[in-house]
Amino acid sequence: MAASPLIVLGVTGSIAAHKAIDVASQLTKAGRNVQVVMTADAQRFVSPLPFKTLSRHPVVTDLYDEEEGWRPTHIRLADEADLFLVAPATANCVAKLALGLADDALSCLALALNPQARQLIAPAMNGKMWLHPATQQHVATLRSRGAEFIGPEEGLLSCGYEGIGRLWPVEGIVARALELTSSS
Ligand SMILES: Cc1cc2nc3c(=O)[nH]c(=O)nc-3n(C[C@H](O)[C@H](O)[C@H](O)COP(=O)(O)O)c2cc1C
Repeated sequence: MAASPLIVLGVTGSIAAHKAIDVASQLTKAGRNVQVVMTADAQRFVSPLPFKTLSRHPVVTDLYDEEEGWRPTHIRLADEADLFLVAPATANCVAKLALGLADDALSCLALALNPQARQLIAPAMNGKMWLHPATQQHVATLRSRGAEFIGPEEGLLSCGYEGIGRLWPVEGIVARALELTSSS
């Protein structure tokens, strides 16, 4: 029997980080092998525990404290991923991915990602952060390298403003992730 497609789900330090729990849960229920990598800031918003339980895998939370044998987990995941999904993706994360910075497990994994892996990025941030030319330039750079963006959408933002920046609805992110991994 063919192995389930591997989705590496990156979770970053956004107020929307709790919604990624549902993303992990729904993708796992749909038969995907979901492995979660959290930034240090993401862990200020939500604990690794629900991700570990719902994805049925250990969560990568620290570049220096990965739970497997001799081979760094983030490199194994980079080699084996069918889809690299970041939801939610902060402005900081989008910038790091575009610039190729590699100072934590998620950004190292992104840089080491196998070229066959699809990339889906679901940003969530304050509207001014999203519309800032720096962010828009990073988005254009990532798109030019083949990354796909889903959202953000307009609405009431948790920072109190109305505008663009909300995480795309979980169902939409899950549906697109399933499409992108349907023939893997
Ligand atoms: C309450 C709160 C909510 C935040 N929400 C967001 C957000 O939705 N999007 C964003 O880009 N940054 C947000 N930030 C800022 C990020 O947490 C900060 O840029 C952090 O360095 C991101 O780290 P990471 O990208 O490594 O996860 C928020 C910060 C706080 C204190």
